[in-house]
Amino acid sequence: MVLDSNWTGEYTRPGPRLYPHQWSWDSAFIAFGYARYDQKRAIQELRHLFDNQWTNGLLPQIVFDPHFGEYFPGIDFWHAECSESAVCVYKTSGVVQPPIHATATLHVYRHGVDRPGARAFLEEAFPRLVAWHDYLYRERDPENEGLVYIRHPWESGMDNSPLWDAIMLRMQLRSHEIPAYRRVDTHVVSPADRPESAAYDRFAYLVQLFSRLNYDEARIREDCPFLVQDVLFNSLLCQGERDLAQIAQLIGEDPSPNEERAGKTAGAVNRKLWDEEHGTYLDFDLATGQPIRVYAAAGFLPLFAGIPEEQCARRMVERLKTTGFDLGGEGMIAVPSYDPLGFGFSPSRYWRGPVWINIDWLLMRGLERYGYEKHARGLRESIVNLVRDNGFYEYFNPRTGVGHGSDLFSWSAALLLDAMSDSWW
Ligand code: GLC
Repeated sequence: MVLDSNWTGEYTRPGPRLYPHQWSWDSAFIAFGYARYDQKRAIQELRHLFDNQWTNGLLPQIVFDPHFGEYFPGIDFWHAECSESAVCVYKTSGVVQPPIHATATLHVYRHGVDRPGARAFLEEAFPRLVAWHDYLYRERDPENEGLVYIRHPWESGMDNSPLWDAIMLRMQLRSHEIPAYRRVDTHVVSPADRPESAAYDRFAYLVQLFSRLNYDEARIREDCPFLVQDVLFNSLLCQGERDLAQIAQLIGEDPSPNEERAGKTAGAVNRKLWDEEHGTYLDFDLATGQPIRVYAAAGFLPLFAGIPEEQCARRMVERLKTTGFDLGGEGMIAVPSYDPLGFGFSPSRYWRGPVWINIDWLLMRGLERYGYEKHARGLRESIVNLVRDNGFYEYFNPRTGVGHGSDLFSWSAALLLDAMSDSWW
């Protein structure tokens, strides 16, 4: 079984060779799967991540296992110890990933067989989750809009998406600004599936900028060329706040601050990120003050958080059916991460078009939430068939189903387990 083979005793590796450390949102997705059959492990998984939270609340994208030295960018490249908030947990990266952890924590409780144990975990996790969301609203929402920004493509979880192309193009680097580094990923899987080196130069440049500024968010905000209010990140934060309110209620805390923040974020997503012309949501580039007019599947994921009004949701479903995403049609095996008719689409390159199970799973739960039963069922079948016929890959060609990237990929297994079980809402 994939999850068992990737379990280290402390956390679950996303994939056996390509991803040997702990990744933040992977662990949350993995916990959704464990919740269905091994509550103890689901709790251990999340606890190991929370144990490496920075004192300012930042929940790191990667917790490194120092035994795997062959990784780029590793502990020494991040210099997390430059931040006064990371002194005790220096073995982490210095960026974050989308905040789906409160949702995962509540899910572990709801499906836990050992109720007292699961409740005790809610009490333990609550202050961690509050600190995590507080960090985001405090440090990443300087104008108090209810929308937080990300400052590196890796923070979106969709590292190499065409969403970031315009910003990457604007980053004209001179040779001395590109840090010396050696990639490992392209030795493990085909370089044709992975980001190009010009993208990696920019990823590395941003990391070096953060460590040079000692991870001081106010200074980063002034200098960083990448500052984006991302639809998926803010949607998951909104749902996370809704779930944190539920957790608060279950353990006898006041849910109203979290309910208020969820409402504020939902309102801001609708006001600022909705694209009336195309019936979807768009990321917003804070450096240019303009929306990013790139049509990715993530633009439909406010459905997962119950953000759009019914009428907007209807337009979104229409859009999914009539564009290259081909929801419910015969052309695509499942919903691709980027519109196949979009400029720069690739069926096999990392985040530039392949099907990712986590994106389709979020969309499936979103469609279900709004009562689009037939489409939700169709997507569920696509997810199950895709993995059954092609294996537990990291991502899949949307036309042929051929798997790419890491094999034995943990969240493909974990979310399959959840997708096969009952409706959520
Ligand atoms: C890649 C993905 C990211 C994921 C990580 C580990 O970097 O883009 O979303 O968390 O791999 O699986």
